[in-house]
Amino acid sequence: MFYGDELIERVREANDIVDVVGTYVKLTRRGSNYVGLCPFHNEKTGSFSVNKNMQIYKCFGCGKAGNVFTFLMEYDNLNFIEAVKELADRAGIALPEQEMTEEEKERRDMKERLFEVNKAAAGFYFRQLRSDAGRKAYEYLKGRALSDETMKKFGLGYAGHGSGRLYDYLKQQGFSDRVLHESGIFTFSERGVSDKFWDRVIFPYMDKNGKVIAFGGRLMVPSEKAPKYLNSPETGIFIKGRNLYGMHLARHSHEKYMLLCEGYMDTIALHQAGFDNAVGSMGTALTPQQAKLISAYVSEVVLTYDQDEAGRNAILRAIPILKDAGIVTKVVDMTPYKDPDEFIKNLGADEYRKRIEEAVTAFDFEAKSLRNKIDGADPAQKTKFDHELAKKLARIEDELERNNYIEAAARDYNIDINALRRQVNEYGRRLFNERVAEETQERAKEERRRMAGEKDSTVRSEQLLVSMLANNPDLYESVKNLITEEDFSDPLCNKLVSFIFASYANNGRPVHANIVCRFEEVKDQEEVAGILNSALYEDRIGEDEKKKAFADLVVRVLDDGLELRMQRALEADDARLYQELMNRKNDLEALRGRLCRQ
Ligand code: UTP
Ligand code: MN
Repeated sequence: MFYGDELIERVREANDIVDVVGTYVKLTRRGSNYVGLCPFHNEKTGSFSVNKNMQIYKCFGCGKAGNVFTFLMEYDNLNFIEAVKELADRAGIALPEQEMTEEEKERRDMKERLFEVNKAAAGFYFRQLRSDAGRKAYEYLKGRALSDETMKKFGLGYAGHGSGRLYDYLKQQGFSDRVLHESGIFTFSERGVSDKFWDRVIFPYMDKNGKVIAFGGRLMVPSEKAPKYLNSPETGIFIKGRNLYGMHLARHSHEKYMLLCEGYMDTIALHQAGFDNAVGSMGTALTPQQAKLISAYVSEVVLTYDQDEAGRNAILRAIPILKDAGIVTKVVDMTPYKDPDEFIKNLGADEYRKRIEEAVTAFDFEAKSLRNKIDGADPAQKTKFDHELAKKLARIEDELERNNYIEAAARDYNIDINALRRQVNEYGRRLFNERVAEETQERAKEERRRMAGEKDSTVRSEQLLVSMLANNPDLYESVKNLITEEDFSDPLCNKLVSFIFASYANNGRPVHANIVCRFEEVKDQEEVAGILNSALYEDRIGEDEKKKAFADLVVRVLDDGLELRMQRALEADDARLYQELMNRKNDLEALRGRLCRQ
């Protein structure tokens, strides 16, 4: 560990777990717990619980647990030190520099320098657009109906003629070739270094915090030789599938849905027209991470991809991904225009808003595109289509909703309603049977896990005892001279108990989230948080019952420990020790009684 415990604790205390997790996951308050959809596995019910008092989180679905550091480590794939740094940054706590290894410093420095390069480059392009040299680019953007205010809001810029200009500027600013190389916005070759963007309008790409992480550059005049848009490659700070263009603005929108479009210009045009909830997936297939990113803020998406074949296919691929992230999806029809930018330019924002209101459900969109692929006059094809539709209808869980869709589908696609209903029921039955089979398998698996767990009942008892000791100072008082860390055979429990006892001895009560920090591996942090969290159930039992449970656990753990040592004494032929241990074992029943009466 490179930072002192005290500093780490200060960073942790300055970052309330509900606030931090709340920027990634939509949380709803339930008592002292906050619940939401788990960001670590796909689910529709909120099993993810954040406890404000204990400052730890736990998912009752997938079992992930930890404190505010663990969360960032898991969510953003950071190591412990990086998580501490990020949270220190967030809370404005300065960290001493020298407490880093060289390698970490380098990695961290590289990321920071990459942010700086992108920021400096964005400034350079921004100024160029507003200079004489950028006249043509400025006119181009004006010609695409963008206001000065919009250009400024999105930090639009221009990369000028001639080679090596941004490079010279950034070298002057003191950036090293290594960093400039990593930034991906230069071409390094035997002939030297040149700017990647060259006579293009520049669209800076911001992450959700508004930091520039990449660029897109658009040609103003179409060319056979070069692509319309040129983009930064992926770098240490830019992973395409994890970001959405415009998210830094859209996440502050008050709208309860987000508009998802394809391109830079679409996103910008939508914002300019007053749709401050628009984000762009930038012409690549939507990823599950992007869907997760959206689901942290809203649970509904209105898709407004291009009206062409490619756009329609992209919609069909995006629908199940959004569904898996718990998002309800609708699709906008922009006929006769190609994309939101063109639509708004021609028909205006009000007309577009009407189209949003008329957006069709994901189901309708899928059904229509299936229908368009077949020749309805061919009975074989029509039959196949009817079956596909029935299968889709069978997947609608809500009965009333399903019935409405069946009625609409029968009408729209000219299918006999009774036949359709029977077929939907048939597929429903099959689906149900499949699920039952799955569930049975799941349960069998669970049973096997439970059996395996029973063999480990010693560890289980130790874990429960640890959690009770950590959460009840009075119980600790009653056994502090009777039990030591050596009585715990499980290495994790052993280590935990020594921390807990030390905190009691030094400064009163142990703090859970603090104890979690003592373990550097995410795996251990999770397990520790899980163990400490067993206490969440404690308040559901009465005081007497609690005492009895505690007494049982103390006795069981001591008993298991004594058994083990007696066995060793026998093996070592140490009769005296054996006798002594035996006596202690015999005293355990009396101890149980004392603990219960206390
Ligand atoms: P489009 O071709 O639909 O362009 O590509 P657009 O957004 O409507 O842009 P304008 O209106 O012609 O200026 C959609 C997105 O796909 C990516 C870009 O992110 C673009 O915004 N794209 C497109 C590329 O990365 N490279 C290309 O050559 C073309
Ligand atoms: Mn366009």
